[in-house]
Amino acid sequence: MRKILVTSALPYANGPIHIGHLVEYIQTDIWVRYQKMCGHQCIYVCADDAHGTPIMLRARQQGITPEQLIKTIAVEHRADFAEFGVDFDNYHSTHSPENRYFANTIYQRNREKGHISLRTITQAYDPVEKMFLPDRFIKGECPKCGAQDQYGDNCEVCGASYSPSELINPVSAVSGVTPEQRESEHHFFRLGDFETLLRQWTRGGHLQQEVSNKLDEWFAAGLQEWDISRDAPYFGFEIPDHPGKFFYVWMDAPIGYMASFKHLCDRSVGIEFDDFWKPGSEAELYHFIGKDIIYFHALFWPAMLHGADYRMPTAIFSHGFLTVDGLKMSKSRGTFIKARSYLDHLNPEYLRYYFAAKLGSGVDDIDLNLDDFIARVNADLVGKVVNIASRCAGFISKRFDNRLAERLPEPDLFAEFSSAGNGIAGLFEQREFSRAVREIMALADRANQYIDEKKPWVIAKQQGREQELHQVCTMGLNLFRLLIGYLRPILPVTAAQSESFLQIEPLTWNALSTPLTGHRIAAFKPLMTRIERAQVDALLAASRESLEPAASLQAKTGLLSKDPIGDPIEFPEFAKVDLRVARIVQAEHVDGADKLLHLTLDLGGERRSVFAGIKSAYTPETLVGRLTVMVANLAPRKMRFGLSEGMILAAGPGGSEIFLLSPDAGAEPGMRVK
Ligand code: 2FM
Ligand code: ZN
Repeated sequence: MRKILVTSALPYANGPIHIGHLVEYIQTDIWVRYQKMCGHQCIYVCADDAHGTPIMLRARQQGITPEQLIKTIAVEHRADFAEFGVDFDNYHSTHSPENRYFANTIYQRNREKGHISLRTITQAYDPVEKMFLPDRFIKGECPKCGAQDQYGDNCEVCGASYSPSELINPVSAVSGVTPEQRESEHHFFRLGDFETLLRQWTRGGHLQQEVSNKLDEWFAAGLQEWDISRDAPYFGFEIPDHPGKFFYVWMDAPIGYMASFKHLCDRSVGIEFDDFWKPGSEAELYHFIGKDIIYFHALFWPAMLHGADYRMPTAIFSHGFLTVDGLKMSKSRGTFIKARSYLDHLNPEYLRYYFAAKLGSGVDDIDLNLDDFIARVNADLVGKVVNIASRCAGFISKRFDNRLAERLPEPDLFAEFSSAGNGIAGLFEQREFSRAVREIMALADRANQYIDEKKPWVIAKQQGREQELHQVCTMGLNLFRLLIGYLRPILPVTAAQSESFLQIEPLTWNALSTPLTGHRIAAFKPLMTRIERAQVDALLAASRESLEPAASLQAKTGLLSKDPIGDPIEFPEFAKVDLRVARIVQAEHVDGADKLLHLTLDLGGERRSVFAGIKSAYTPETLVGRLTVMVANLAPRKMRFGLSEGMILAAGPGGSEIFLLSPDAGAEPGMRVK
């Protein structure tokens, strides 16, 4: 029996779980359930990530203490996870005594070995709120393009990166006053001390190939010291012997994995903390994370653990982001779907199945295409899998008093299904869930084909064919049992209902190969219903509605009063701007840029290379081929990532709310826009 400890990233305790988060929790939960079905000791822990400035300020805004805020959010998070079948063995909080203990221990052991240094830095300070300001709490005009209301580290309009001190007319987003520059002593984790170890570790089979490649770039750029302290006021743990200094939220967040596990150990018999965390431990340790937090998990975390004499992870499994119908989740489109809203409208097993059908072992983004979602759930789960049981169960109940036949008529077919289990198991182990689903659905087709060939509904009407009917239906239900067994990690509720219908113990991978004969089952109840498009539309409408208070507030204050119309210009000045219809012929991510996409535009023969700050709203695939409008005579500008030869036009406040302008049908690349 393997001993396995598994974690998912800890969600921040200042907002609800949404379907983007759920990709990871569902992925992890499927893997854990699979391991448990194989009989391994597999323990899945998580916690709320409860510290940091945003949580402190959010609580203040609501007129409550951070402790109250994180308590309320914890209740919501737990309920959302439970209803999605995400079955943690323990769910804890980083604001816990266990986490304080491990944060202190890890800090102190690293300090004793010289891996922590102290240095004075200069930082923006809000003299009214009497606090240092994180970059994202400073706003001002972009030093490159002059756009208003930009955050302290980069501009959403032109994509430029800069330091907060370069912002023009900076203001504190907390109080609105101009920040001062003040000095403060900070604690730094000397990541560079671990370079040799990390270079080895990151190439030692602990990371996916594409992640290792990314790491090579980071090594080439040089490992910097990491600032792990923040000044009061801060919601977090005070650093031992340093009053007024706190551990940065990202320092104690991964330590929350240990804390949650320790909290479990303290309440259980037979799980020893040291068995899992001492150096050289035989136990396996896996972290499932999003690709945006690889740096923390593949560099800082193993180094901190090693510096504190704990074991390092067995592997880090990163996944991509979720898009909906090819686009970033968006509040105005109603695709920023909270877990709770989804639960109000649809069966969580549908989403578990769809995500499984899309997930592989790599870091590619996955798309929730709503029409495909409806079609696949209806065709695969309702149409193929559940249908097998409903086609056979009625006869067993009406004609055979709910008793299965003593023997299977087609042992070879059963053996074929049963031996497919090895391959499917391997795919679950490798996190190749979409391939596992394909194999399982191919078996479901085979099972339906068997029933179609045998036609129990015909046999049932013919005299003297009782035994055959009994055996065919028993065979059908045995194939159904195998399919449900294979789908069990993905569909825990449907599997539990099927187990109670079949009157069997929770299925294990081992038990699957023994057929179920001469056994009494229960009456069949429908296991799953079809999704209707109307349900999905209602979910989108409800997700749009949840924005309404903010929207109507904006309507009251008036969009224009927030973003007043600019000073008048004369016509000749306007006429200088040469606007043209352009076709996006190529769209690519830009390495190292959070906001930019690199577009190649066709102007009716001439090609332009343009960097556009629209990555937060568009994925490259959805842009290729579409027409838009560009400023064609803007002087080329040298940006950090290359030369930008023009500008495309879009509306909206930013983030996922960016709306690219496009001409009506009939327009051609190169046409002048007047
Ligand atoms: O990115 C996030 O949402 C963080 N709260 C994840 C923390 S994961 C771990 F390090 F705790
Ligand atoms: Zn700018």
